[in-house]
Formats: sequence, C-alpha cells, structure tokens
Amino acid sequence: MRVLTRASAPALRFLALGAAVSATLASVRAHQTPFAADDSITATTSSAHDFVPPPCYPFCDATVDSVSKVEGARYRNRLDTLQWVDPRIGTNGPDPSEYGGMVPSVALPFAGVRTVPMTRENLVSGCAYHDNDTANIGFLASRQPAIWMGDYGFATLFAGNGEVKLGKHERGHSYKRSQEFVSPFKYAVTMSNSSLAENGIFAEMSGKSRAAMVQYTYPAALNSGPAGTHTDHDSISATLSVNDSEWGPYIGIQASREQWRGAVRIDVHKGEVSGYNTERMDYRLGPHEAPDFRGYFVYRFEHQRSGASSDEWIRGFPADGAGTAHSNSTGITLHPGERARWHELGVYAYVRFPTDTTKIRVRVGLSLISEEQARYNLDVEMPDATALEDVVDELIDAWKSKTDRIKVQGGTEEQKRILYTGIFHASQYPAEHAEPIPDTHKPTNRSEATPLLRFGHEHEHSYHYYSGYTDSVHRVDAGAQRYQSWSIWDIYRAQWNLLILFEPERVVDLVRSLLDIYRQSGFLPMWSTLAETNIMIATHADSLLAEAVVKGVRGFDLDEAWQAVYKDATVPPEREDELRYEDREEYTPLEVRAGLSFYNHSGYVPLDGWSESTSRTLDYAYDDHAIAVLAEVLGKQSDASFFHNRSRNYRHVFDHEQGLMAARLKNGTFLVQPLPDPRGRQDGFTEGNSFDYSFDVVQDVPGLAELVGGRTKLTALLDRHFGEGHNDQSNEPSHHIPYLYSLLGEAHKTQRLVREISHEAFSDQPDGYAGNEDCGQQSAWYIWSAMGLYPVNPVSGEYVVSSPFFEHMEIDIPPRVANDAGNGTKLRIHAVGSDDDHVYVANLTVNGRAVAKPKLNWDDILAGGEWTFGLQSSPQEWGNDPESPPLRA
Ligand SMILES: *[C@@H]1O[C@H](CO)[C@@H](O)[C@H](O)[C@H]1NC(C)=O
Ligand SMILES: *[C@@H]1O[C@H](CO)[C@@H](O)[C@H](O)[C@H]1NC(C)=O
Ligand SMILES: *[C@@H]1O[C@H](CO)[C@@H](O)[C@H](O)[C@H]1NC(C)=O
Ligand SMILES: *[C@@H]1O[C@H](CO)[C@@H](O)[C@H](O)[C@H]1NC(C)=O
Ligand SMILES: *[C@@H]1O[C@H](CO)[C@@H](O)[C@H](O)[C@H]1NC(C)=O
Ligand SMILES: *[C@@H]1O[C@H](CO)[C@@H](O)[C@H](O)[C@H]1NC(C)=O
Ligand SMILES: *[C@@H]1O[C@H](CO)[C@@H](O)[C@H](O)[C@H]1NC(C)=O
Ligand SMILES: *[C@@H]1O[C@H](CO)[C@@H](O)[C@H](O)[C@H]1NC(C)=O
Ligand SMILES: *[C@@H]1O[C@H](CO)[C@@H](O)[C@H](O)[C@H]1NC(C)=O
Repeated sequence: MRVLTRASAPALRFLALGAAVSATLASVRAHQTPFAADDSITATTSSAHDFVPPPCYPFCDATVDSVSKVEGARYRNRLDTLQWVDPRIGTNGPDPSEYGGMVPSVALPFAGVRTVPMTRENLVSGCAYHDNDTANIGFLASRQPAIWMGDYGFATLFAGNGEVKLGKHERGHSYKRSQEFVSPFKYAVTMSNSSLAENGIFAEMSGKSRAAMVQYTYPAALNSGPAGTHTDHDSISATLSVNDSEWGPYIGIQASREQWRGAVRIDVHKGEVSGYNTERMDYRLGPHEAPDFRGYFVYRFEHQRSGASSDEWIRGFPADGAGTAHSNSTGITLHPGERARWHELGVYAYVRFPTDTTKIRVRVGLSLISEEQARYNLDVEMPDATALEDVVDELIDAWKSKTDRIKVQGGTEEQKRILYTGIFHASQYPAEHAEPIPDTHKPTNRSEATPLLRFGHEHEHSYHYYSGYTDSVHRVDAGAQRYQSWSIWDIYRAQWNLLILFEPERVVDLVRSLLDIYRQSGFLPMWSTLAETNIMIATHADSLLAEAVVKGVRGFDLDEAWQAVYKDATVPPEREDELRYEDREEYTPLEVRAGLSFYNHSGYVPLDGWSESTSRTLDYAYDDHAIAVLAEVLGKQSDASFFHNRSRNYRHVFDHEQGLMAARLKNGTFLVQPLPDPRGRQDGFTEGNSFDYSFDVVQDVPGLAELVGGRTKLTALLDRHFGEGHNDQSNEPSHHIPYLYSLLGEAHKTQRLVREISHEAFSDQPDGYAGNEDCGQQSAWYIWSAMGLYPVNPVSGEYVVSSPFFEHMEIDIPPRVANDAGNGTKLRIHAVGSDDDHVYVANLTVNGRAVAKPKLNWDDILAGGEWTFGLQSSPQEWGNDPESPPLRA
C-alpha cells in the first residue's frame, strides 16, 4: 500500500502560537483541515551532502562514550535475539513518503499507543520521525498506524531550558546520530544546540500500551542561570517571554495544533496537566463522524534538584507554584473560566522548574474514553513509583517473548537484523484498542511500583473501548481485548497468517473485534483506524475470517461471521450507482464492494462505473473464493457452489488480445493503455497495472493457466513480468508472484527470485524497505520467505515452498487456544549450506518423509519436527514434476 500524495492539500503556513492556559478548560474551535501534507520542517532536514550513515549500528562501539555505545553496553547481555532488532530500519528512503514509513517507536507489542521521538509533525503521508532529520522537537505518544494514515488521540511533549519555546520550528534541539540510542524498549538521545556535548539535555523514553514516560537529565552547566536565547521580532515567533533569571528547565505540552479544538487544565494540587485533543486526521474519510471523539491525556511530573538528597524524586509541580504560567505569547494571564478565543492557535501548557533542577520525569496516560480513564491507565501501567528502567525491563521481556520464538544459525548479520526487525514490525498491528475498566475492588496504590497492568497479565482485567462507529463506549467480556488499525488489503496476504501462527490468543479477540465492527457499522471493516476510512478495495475481511476458521480459530459467533461475509458478498454499498468510490474519496458511505451489482450479473466491475475496476473484479473473485471456503467448512453447500462459481469471475477481465488482465467498460470493450514505466499505474488498477494484476488469481492458478493459454504461456508471462521489470516488491500486489513459478513446475525460478528480492527490497539500513512496511505485511513476506514458505492462497491452508535463508531455524509455535493444555510445538528447519549461491532445492524431507512437491500445509507447520532441505548451487529438478497436472489451489 502506498502513500497519499495530495497536491491540493491545504498547506498550513503559519506557526503555532502558544496558548498556554490553566485552571480551566480552554478550547480552540475552528474548522478542521487535517491533510497538511505540505507542512514539512525544512530547518531540521539535512541536505543530501550532509547525510552520513549512522556510525554506530546497532549497539556498536564506534564512538567513544556515545549514547549509542553507553546505552548499548548497558543492555547488551540481556537481549538474546532482541539484539537484532533495529527500529531505525524503514525510517529513510529515496522518496519523502515512498519508503518504509517506519518510526523508532517504543511500546509493548500490539500497543494501543506507541511513543516516538519527534523530528517533524505527524501528518497523513508524514511520520513524526525521519532519519534525515537532525533536531528533536519532542516526543509523541501516537496512534498513527502507518505513514499514509492519519493520527488521532495522540499527545505531544517537549523540553527546554530558560525561555519557553512552543512552536515546532523553535523548540527543537539538534543531535548527532552517535548520540542517539534506538531500540524497541528505549529511545535515548543527548540533544543540544550547543557545540559542547556536555551541555546537552539527555532524554530517555519508554512506553507501554496506553502510557509513556520521558526522563530528562540536565547538565550542571545549564543549571546556573538563564539560557540567554532571544526572540526574533522580525518573524512570527512562538516564544514566550518570561523572567529567565528565575527559572530553569521546562516541559512543554501541546494539547492540540492550529485549527483543532484542544484543551488543557493544570491542577496544582494533583500536580497534573490534563486535557484532550480532538484532532482526527482521517475524519473526512468514510461515514463515521464520531463527533464526541477526543484523545484524552493526563501528565504527571517528578523532578530532582541538586543538593543533599539529589536523587530523591519530588512529585508534582515545584512548591512555589512554578509551572502554572498562565499566558499566551504576549504574556497576558488567562483567568479561571475564561475560554481561549484564538481560532488559529494550538493549545499548549508548560511547567517550569527551578534552575537547580537536575532531572525531570514526565509520565503521560492516554485514553479515548475520558480524562479519568487516562488517569487510570497511567496508574495501572506506570504507577507513581515507576522508574524508567522498570518500564524498560518490562519491554525487554515482552519483546524477547516475541523474538526468542525464532532462533537461527547461519545467514548474515544483515539477514538476522531484517528478520528480527521484521518480527518487531509484524507484532505491532492491529493495535490494542480497549482500556482497562477501573476496578474499585483493586484500588491502585499510587506509591506501589509494581503496575497492576503488566504485559502477559492483561487478561486479569476487564476492558471497554470507545468506538468511532457508534461514538460511544462498549464493554467487552472479562479478560478480552479489542483491536483497531486494520490494514486489511495489506495484511490478509501473509501478516494475518503470521498472527494466527504466533498469536493464537490474540487472534480470537482480533476476530471478535472484526465482528464488533460488523455489528456497529453494518459491515466488516476495509481499512479501519478509529472508524472506517474506505482506503483500498474489496472486502478482504472475508479472507481473514475464512482463514481463521479454516485454521481452527474458534471462540466467536460463527453464524455471525457467516452473516458478515455473506453481506459483504451480496449487499452493494449505498449510492453505488452515483459514486465511483475513488481512492480516498471523501465523505462516502461504507465502500465495501462498490460495483457489486454489475459484478454479480455481468461478471466484472466496469471502469466506466467504478474506479480500480479490474482490481476490484479480481479481488472480489478472491473474496468470493474465501467465502466459498468458509461455506464449505460450515456445511453450506449451495452457498459454497454459488461463491465458488463467482470466484471464477477473474476470467471476465482477461483480454485475450492483449494477453493480460485489462480495464473493461460496461459495453464489454477492453481498454489498451500505455505503460511507459514498467511499474506504472493504469486506470482500472489499484496501485498497479495489467502486469501485476494478471497474476491476481491466487485461488485458481490452474484456471489462470488455462485462461492464458496453458501452463507454458503463463510461465512465459511470468518471465516477461520479471524480465521487463514489472515486479514491484515495494507494493503488495506483487508479493505472491515469484512463488507462482513453484506452482507451475519451475520451482528453481521461485527459489532464485525470492532470494534476489530479499536483497533488493530489504536491507538493515534506515532505507531498508523498498516500500511502505504496511502494518507488518512487508515483514511477514520476509519472515515466511526466510522460512522457505509463502501462503500464496491464504485461505487454502497451503504454503508454497521456496528455500530457507538460514542454515537452521528453530521456531517455537505456541499452543493453539483450542488445545491449550499443550506446550506448543517446535519446528526445526534445516537448510545446511544455505547462502546466496545455494538457493536451489535438491530434496526436502519433512519428519523423514520425502516431499516431492513444493507445497506444505498448515498442519505440517503445526506438527513441528524436522524439515530438512538439501540445497545446491545450480537449478535442480526438485518440485518441477511437469507430468502431473498443475496444483489446484
Ligand atoms: C533524505 O535524504 C536523502 C538524501 O539526501 C534524500 O534523497 C531524501 O529525499 C530525504 N528525505 C526526506 C524525507 O527529506
Ligand atoms: C536550536 O537551534 C535552532 C537553530 O538555530 C533554533 O531554531 C531553535 O530555536 C533552537 N532551539 C532551542 C530550544 O533553543
Ligand atoms: C526577574 O526575577 C528576578 C528575581 O526574582 C527579579 O529580581 C527581576 O526583577 C525579575 N525581572 C523581571 C523583568 O520581572
Ligand atoms: C493573548 O491573550 C490576550 C488576552 O486574552 C489577547 O488579547 C491577545 O491577543 C493574545 N495574544 C495572542 C498572540 O493571541
Ligand atoms: C501502598 O504501597 C506502599 C509501598 O509498597 C505501602 O507502604 C502502602 O502501605 C500501600 N498503601 C496501601 C493503601 O495499600
Ligand atoms: C446476484 O445474482 C444472483 C443470481 O445469480 C441473484 O440471485 C442475486 O440476487 C444477485 N445479487 C445481487 C446483489 O445483485
Ligand atoms: C464501448 O464504449 C466505448 C466508449 O464509449 C466505445 O469506444 C466502444 O466503441 C464501445 N464498444 C462497443 C463494442 O460498442
Ligand atoms: C508440557 O511440558 C511439561 C514440561 O516439559 C510436561 O510436564 C507436560 O507433560 C507437557 N504437556 C503436554 C500436554 O505435553
Ligand atoms: C539432498 O540433497 C543434498 C544436497 O544436494 C544431498 O547432499 C543429499 O544427499 C540429498 N539427500 C537425499 C536424501 O537425497
């Protein structure tokens, strides 16, 4: 999936001026302009020739006493496989938005909120951190699932010393890459505008699922007096004039940005800054207005001062009332009860500390339900006595529980970094959405360091969640969770498969989350963040549900699942004949299968009716197949045969004259469209063209071969696809294509191509993803491919076999929920000699049984045991088997 580039996006040119208010809720109301794609920060972006690759990668010893070295050494011995995770991978690329689109986030696996160092603003098509940038403008607790989606319910804080600077252009502190430590469990940076490193502010950050913590350590040199900055009166400035001789470090909080309502309240007695932010960047997409949506936050502060008991944390604001400055940028105090009236301004607060402050610790709890809930989330995730390292310890254990499930020998260090960082990326989404219900029988003891809500013990709580579909709060069964951020067009291919394998307990709640959405909105989701965005096409939730059922996931209402997919397949969207349902068309009803009526009676979606029509036809046909598979499992024979027949509709968009899938009009005519760029886009296709979509028939490869004119013709078309450079691993429609050779009797081509793509499209550098990571799908491609497998047809339970990247891989498969008395299984995949030459499979045995066809099953994976590949450096006959009929999916 690719980013949105909006030439017409309204650019916000003015700076954020501070409206710091207190003791009251101040709201700034304005019309909403969420797509500020052009709002980049040039001041913090280095030019091409400044870019130096990181000297210290990851945890190396390159720079004496660098933050990366010191912090790396501190954790090195505890990390095991986690040492190979580098969250910097995917944070850079040749194009400002067509790259991994990842951020070095710190959070628990599948966290509701991920905390990120901020080097620029989070926007649709823009992440809060970019590897090119050289200034930190704060920390962001974010819900933005991917670069091309909007954020919502986020919280921003930043730090400084002396004169308070609020605006994103003013508040930044520059840093060097060697002064940055990036890991899944902690981010740390020494940042300073001074050339003297010892003058830098040292910031350390960690976060869980609904709470984050940032700890700042100030150098002694900064504690002796005013920082001496001055205001440039010639430009609009977001600097507050205050009496610098009295105050030292400060923490700034941005409650909302220009054009959005937001509020802050400063409670001197509780030592809290709380409030909300109404910004929801995707609000124009889809029909759900969610008028009461708010992202609530509660911040708490602790600080240390130099002196006798210097390591004692002092809670709350400084005793003399410092930190409750009530001014906007002209320094005029707002009175209690007065509402801010600046339409164009963001809402800020700040807390100032005495000059002899040495450390400040800030914790923030977030909620989509209420401020009280945000406070509870903070109390149960990070109670008052929590130290930063307590959070770090929990995160190390949590992430190790994910990465330690796969152990490898052989391969290169780069391959290990890509693999384990892939596990990190594929274990983030969908994200936890429900929040723990405050339990009066288990009062939170705010001075108790052990958090009530800990990783691995989540089911001991009961949860409820705010639904953007109903704009209200829903309770879920005790112990159960609900999830959001469904990038279904991406993840139905291989990431869902990985979740079913490695997260059997979560998968049940993931399925229940889909069904909740069905119940609340009338349809299963397509691309749901807080609510439906209608991004991408087709109803691949049908595939998610069918695959889950085929693989034995239970614990949800099967009848309801059937009703949901049946509705997808039989009920067209509202205003079907009136709208083309263009990509990201605003304010549309639920898009689901736009063009379904025509598809149902004429067998395809015509381009003169609906956008992306040929891709729709092909994807609807696959979804029909998924529904047929589900119908069979449920014993609904006539439905199974109806949808099975309809799953052959892919035939109606194949143009025999061009020998390719093509866009087709209502009167039956096919369009011939030029393709100047082999990876260019054509009308009628979703982020692709006739080439990648000519292979979009994973449910019936033999049928596709027949349509094209036989197996040899289809193989020749594949040769052309790769030979002419049409394959595009940076986007999902190509992900399964190299594996098709194995299904057509040329397994060695799959083996070679997959290895080549694994190098071309992936690396362990910041620009290590050829395209957007896509909520785990790119990583899932790599993980399955590294195992020597790929789920070409996800609902078949079959895996096409290639060849493993590592010489040995040991995989801990968790017990299935249905069989949770068991201990799970271990799968050992041996491929002695595997390297970039030895990619060709000469033979394969599975627990001693010789396997002749390049195909294994879900049951083979679950059974575990030993798989042994014999590899050679030249193409082998294995798996070719040209005499037998092609494999029927
Ligand atoms: C980052 O820097 C590289 C090299 O100068 C450049 O090609 C790329 O466009 C930059 N990306 C952004 C988002 O500025
Ligand atoms: C750091 O330096 C930059 C560039 O001179 C400036 O724009 C910014 O305001 C400074 N940051 C602080 C916190 O003083
Ligand atoms: C700043 O604070 C100092 C110390 O309290 C005081 O002497 C001075 O007059 C103040 N300056 C202004 C401009 O208020
Ligand atoms: C600051 O607040 C005062 C009083 O509310 C107001 O008159 C003034 O315009 C505000 N300044 C800015 C820059 O908004
Ligand atoms: C809260 O925890 C602290 C530290 O463990 C303990 O001293 C105190 O008695 C506890 N208070 C309550 C009400 O349980
Ligand atoms: C689809 O076609 C079938 C007959 O083949 C018909 O029974 C059904 O009502 C049609 N559904 C839609 C949505 O047009
Ligand atoms: C179908 O419609 C297109 C566009 O209006 C037209 O160019 C074409 O000739 C038509 N084909 C047939 C068979 O009527
Ligand atoms: C699970 O492992 C434990 C410890 O190795 C063993 O005692 C137990 O029998 C195993 N359970 C099953 C169902 O295999
Ligand atoms: C499998 O292939 C490997 C590599 O060619 C070879 O060494 C081994 O003898 C073969 N094993 C069998 C059982 O054929």
